[in-house]
Parts: sequence; structure tokens; C-alpha cells
Amino acid sequence: MKIFATYNIKGGVGKTASAVNLAYLSGQSGFRTLVWDLDAQGAATYYFRVTPHIKGGSERLLRRKKYLPKAVRETAYLNVDLIPSDFSLRNLDLDLAEEKNPERRLSKLLGGVKNNYDVVILDCAPTISLASENVINMADWLLVPLIPTHLSIRAYDQLKEFFLLNGLDTNHLVPFFSMVDKRKRLHKDLIVEFAAENPELLRSYIPYLSQIEQMGVHRASVGAYAGAGVGGRAFEALWQAIMKRTVLAPTGGSSARDE
Ligand SMILES: Nc1ncnc2c1ncn2[C@@H]1O[C@H](COP(=O)(O)OP(=O)(O)OP(=O)(O)O)[C@@H](O)[C@H]1O
Ligand SMILES: [Mg+2]
Repeated sequence: MKIFATYNIKGGVGKTASAVNLAYLSGQSGFRTLVWDLDAQGAATYYFRVTPHIKGGSERLLRRKKYLPKAVRETAYLNVDLIPSDFSLRNLDLDLAEEKNPERRLSKLLGGVKNNYDVVILDCAPTISLASENVINMADWLLVPLIPTHLSIRAYDQLKEFFLLNGLDTNHLVPFFSMVDKRKRLHKDLIVEFAAENPELLRSYIPYLSQIEQMGVHRASVGAYAGAGVGGRAFEALWQAIMKRTVLAPTGGSSARDE
């Protein structure tokens, strides 16, 4: 089981859009895929058209190891399941703090379903918190969407610094640009500058497109309503690049190609 997290301290950068679309493509690639919606906003749960409900709330979810497999819901997509969020996750940090070994609790819970999945994608809230410490500890790779703006890039620098200060391996950081408008000079310049300083940057990027913004209207992955369009193809290229970077050997139809 390989664990990915779509993570960025900054909000509104495309974490959930990436989690949902990459999960869809992972499922299409033949991987048994689980998305865990860890954000109280429940945006991933909404896109997957699953009822936002955690029976007994986040406290019960954390306390009972056997509960996690029961929380799993099927989605409409091939090979993709979801652990939905609900508003009780706003207390996740407080509830985690009550647990033994709080910074590894989520990882321990995930152990209860690890044999059922090849790929897990954690969709995270935009914070640095006890919950995100759990995510950083358990994820094999952090997929970090970045908007080409100075503040977004600064947030990545802060994350990298956090890794270095805590002796974590920065090779597990997989940044890529999202919501890119190549007509903007600033976007082009910032991408070139960032790539020169951060060789780990994936060359595939997600453009700013109303087709992607419309996920909220369709409540679906882009691949499900416009897979052959520019947005669908951008996520497909991103998924291929991620598979290649993270050496995920496909079991299904897709195969890795150059980034
Ligand atoms: N490539 C894109 N082009 C246009 N709109 C996009 C794109 N990616 C995401 N959006 C839109 O931007 C908004 C924020 O995206 P998303 O919810 O994926 O970000 P997020 O990082 O998960 O936000 P949060 O920090 O609130 O969890 C959403 O309304 C989404 O539909
Ligand atoms: Mg989100």
C-alpha cells in the first residue's frame, strides 16, 4: 500500500481537486484506491456524492481501531472507495491530543484497512496541526499543489524547512503547479524560477480551466465528464508523472511514461 497526501499549508490551491482526480485515475489504472477525507469541509466527500457522516464523530473514529473499515464507502468510480468526512473533524486535533502516541494515531488506524488497498490518498485541510503531523508521518509522498504566486511558493519553502528541521526526507515532497495561466507573465516567470531552485518539481502541471472548476457543478472527477478534454488530459499526465516518480508499477491498463 502506497500512501499519498495532497497537502499544502495554504488553502484553495487545488488539493481536493487533485485528490479526487488522481484517485479516479488510480482506480482506472487498476489500483484498489482509498481516499480518506480528513478535512471537516468535506469537499472530497461532496465531489464523490457520498453522505458526509462519521458515526459517533471523530472521537469514535480515533478510539476504535475496528471502526475504520466500517467507515469505508464505495464511490461511483471503478476501484475507488472513500472514508467520508463530516463536521466533527473540526475537533480532530483536540481528539487526537487525547490519544496515546497522538502523532501516529491516524497511521495506526489505517493499518486496519491496509491489505484492502494499493493506493491511499489523504485529502488534508490547509493547516500545520497535529493532524497534519500525522499525515506527514504516514504518507509515503506528499503531493503539493502550488499556485504560481509568491505566497504559495513561500508556503512550500516553509514546508521544506519544516522537513529539514525535523530530519524528514525532502525526497518525499512532490510539488507541482496547479491553476496555471500561461498567458500570465508572472506565472511563467515564477515556474521557471521555482524549477531552477527545486529540481523535485514535477514538470506536469494543471492549468486554470473552467472545465476543472465545474467539478462542483458535476460533483464528479473531471475524467468522468471530460476525460478527453484539456483538464482531463492534464490530470492524466500528472498521474503518469506521479506514478513514474514514485515507482508505482501499474497493475491495469495504464503504463508510466516520461514526465
Ligand atoms: N485547475 C483549476 N482550474 C480552475 N479552478 C480550479 C482548479 N483547481 C481547483 N479549482 C477550483 O478552485 C477552488 C479550490 O480548489 P480545491 O478545493 O481543490 O482547493 P483546496 O486546496 O483543496 O482548498 P482547501 O484548502 O479549502 O481545502 C475550487 O472551487 C475548485 O473548483
Ligand atoms: Mg480541500
